[in-house]
Amino acid sequence: MAAVDSCFHLVGFLYVLILTFSMQQGVAAARSFTIDYDKNTFLKDGQPFQYVSGSIHYSRVPYYYWQDRLQKMYAGGLNAIQTYVTWNTHNQEPGVFDFTGQNDIEHFLKLANDVGLAVILRLGPYVCGEWEYGGFPAWIIRKNASIITRSSDPGFIAPVDQWLSVLLPRIKPLLYVNGGPIIMVQVENEYGSYFACDYDYLRYLREKVLKYLGNDVVLFTTDGDGEGYLKCGTLESLYSTVDFGPGFNVSNVFAPMRKWEPKGPLVNSEYYTGWLDHWGSPHSHTPSATVTQYLDDLLGYGANVNMYMYEGGTNFGFMNGVNYPSFSPVPTSYDYDSPLTEAGDITEKYMDIRAVIAKHMKVPQVPIPPNTPKYAYGRVNMMLMSTVPNLLDKLTHHGPFVTRYPLTMEQVYQNYGFIYYRHVVKLDWHNAVLDVSAVRDRGYVLINSVPQGVVIRESSQTKLTITALTGQYLDILVENQGRINYGSGINNNTKGLIANVTINGLILKDWFIYPLNVSEKVLNNLDSAVQSKQSSPPKYSGVSQYITPSLFVGQIQMPNKTGFPQDTYLRTDGWFKGQAYVNGFNLGRYWPSAGPQLTLYVPKGALRPYPATNTLVLLELEYAPCSQTRNKIEVDYCFVEFVTTPVINATTVSLERREEWNRAGGFNWHDQH
Ligand SMILES: *[C@@H]1O[C@H](CO)[C@@H](O)[C@H](O)[C@H]1NC(C)=O
Ligand SMILES: *[C@@H]1O[C@H](CO)[C@@H](O)[C@H](O)[C@H]1NC(C)=O
Ligand SMILES: *[C@@H]1O[C@H](CO)[C@@H](O)[C@H](O)[C@H]1NC(C)=O
Ligand SMILES: *[C@@H]1O[C@H](CO)[C@@H](O)[C@H](O)[C@H]1NC(C)=O
Ligand SMILES: *[C@@H]1O[C@H](CO)[C@@H](O)[C@H](O)[C@H]1NC(C)=O
Ligand SMILES: *[C@@H]1O[C@H](CO)[C@@H](O)[C@H](O)[C@H]1NC(C)=O
Ligand SMILES: *[C@@H]1O[C@H](CO)[C@@H](O)[C@H](O)[C@H]1NC(C)=O
Repeated sequence: MAAVDSCFHLVGFLYVLILTFSMQQGVAAARSFTIDYDKNTFLKDGQPFQYVSGSIHYSRVPYYYWQDRLQKMYAGGLNAIQTYVTWNTHNQEPGVFDFTGQNDIEHFLKLANDVGLAVILRLGPYVCGEWEYGGFPAWIIRKNASIITRSSDPGFIAPVDQWLSVLLPRIKPLLYVNGGPIIMVQVENEYGSYFACDYDYLRYLREKVLKYLGNDVVLFTTDGDGEGYLKCGTLESLYSTVDFGPGFNVSNVFAPMRKWEPKGPLVNSEYYTGWLDHWGSPHSHTPSATVTQYLDDLLGYGANVNMYMYEGGTNFGFMNGVNYPSFSPVPTSYDYDSPLTEAGDITEKYMDIRAVIAKHMKVPQVPIPPNTPKYAYGRVNMMLMSTVPNLLDKLTHHGPFVTRYPLTMEQVYQNYGFIYYRHVVKLDWHNAVLDVSAVRDRGYVLINSVPQGVVIRESSQTKLTITALTGQYLDILVENQGRINYGSGINNNTKGLIANVTINGLILKDWFIYPLNVSEKVLNNLDSAVQSKQSSPPKYSGVSQYITPSLFVGQIQMPNKTGFPQDTYLRTDGWFKGQAYVNGFNLGRYWPSAGPQLTLYVPKGALRPYPATNTLVLLELEYAPCSQTRNKIEVDYCFVEFVTTPVINATTVSLERREEWNRAGGFNWHDQH
């Protein structure tokens, strides 16, 4: 298909066109979006329409930047965008729904409409996307952890049904036919890659969507580009599309899709502009020339393309997903090596893609919005606020739960983050083997607050040799590193301690369980504790290099100038692993000792303008570079730094090797960049 007008008109102009068209044709129907099977194309208002779209997830971009990013996408030559709907951010507790602020998807969709972009909505309920639990709220496994998600298991369908009954009525007015931007709605996501192959489930979703949205929107599915995937992923009356990255022969790459859709428009729903990262593995990079070469092929062939990702954004808070098997958490940055960076900046890839699109269709001649300014606020000295065991009561909103055997995080009504298990030792144990293979996902073991080491799920490091005496506290701080978002492991996703802990083979009984909530309110209340700060955490000799997990605090003011706060990046070199908060906003996980991500994106909205004080809190789990002895040298490096340049491609240290080094105390922080 030759270059098609990409329909970048102001709404008013479009209205005039439609009116003219309607009067000429004598038809009343104005806006429509349909499939023309004979001409192998989509039709928008009756005209052939080839979409060139980009993925942006509203949940991963601060809401006050949505418009800026959408304008950049429009200026980049796109005529559509694609977003997932992240169920778990909207429905954090059963029956409680949030569509405000960062969750105001209707506002996001209206902004896209105003900017002139059509929307391809990926409804879910499953969205994969390297997002925590593939988008499912954690509470769906509170009562029964054995439900089979993405199937017609009633334990799964009940919460889905309730969610869709709330979501879909909000979506309907935003359909293209109703004056909104939504031209297409995707049901499920790459369902053919999932073992269940439950057509009844797909049928249920189709009926539910039809009931609420009606027939005037194109419903579709997306699957991997192979017959084996399409087999279980497609369903009659849902248009079948495929996804694949660069490196193909365009004249046969759509053969699997054509087997299911012999006629109709060709669609690649996820054309990869880059790829995801994992902690401890090198940063992914796809050269711009590779992306543009195959994009050129696709557009020249008349295919409709959605670039995944166009702006990857950030897994703020605890929202990163995990790949499995070989449990591999995704970092906080979801930059994805995309045309727009994590912070929405223009890249060479953006310009190159824009040039390729311009070869095939009209790219609007509007100025490309400038990058948002970044500022280097410099160093912030960090002080120890307190160790976690000293703050247990303040960090626990409900609890402790007193139980015979450990309960999971979900069983104590906690969704994310950190949970603390305490056992009062009943017998003296000398050089006994503590087995914590039940840990999901990473546990920090303490005896009377003295660190003993780290236990890691499904690794060679699930046991520790300890000495513990009667009456001492044996504590395990467990980190939920994010729920598996892909594959059958998604049905085995409970967190905390999921089975018993043993010592020399004997089950430990009687636990106090503290779900921790390091939330804004708690952090603000702790601000008063800053006055009583000490300069360094307690030191222990001989035991290990680990510190007692602790909260560190630092304070900083913005410049006394207009235009501030501005975006920045937080570098945590020298710190080991933990969670960072600014003014109570959860920036995400930091883990510079694993890499490849060394900086956390700090959007301006997390900062307070002059003269307010900004409070930065690190929950450091393993090692703080504050007046500690490393390699027999006293190190005093107790600060973090706000810089203008992100580093997400640092050298990585494999998980095994890093644990070795840590145990030996041989890590040289200052060489690590
Ligand atoms: C939990 O869900 C599984 C899978 O659907 C089901 O077999 C089991 O009966 C459920 N258990 C309870 C207690 O409801
Ligand atoms: C692409 O596939 C077509 C049809 O199978 C074939 O004729 C052509 O030679 C292939 N092109 C390349 C570059 O391999
Ligand atoms: C869940 O995963 C663990 C490994 O982490 C495995 O040992 C266990 O058998 C799995 N349970 C189920 C029900 O699949
Ligand atoms: C712990 O062991 C007890 C006794 O064998 C058993 O009843 C219980 O189910 C176990 N708890 C977990 C969480 O596995
Ligand atoms: C965490 O604390 C905040 C208030 O500080 C509260 O609104 C929220 O519900 C708490 N979350 C949990 C899971 O307890
Ligand atoms: C902050 O800037 C304003 C405007 O320039 C000035 O009047 C004020 O004195 C400044 N405050 C401080 C503490 O420097
Ligand atoms: C990381 O990316 C920067 C900016 O693109 C580049 O200059 C640098 O060489 C890269 N570093 C590594 C280790 O690849």
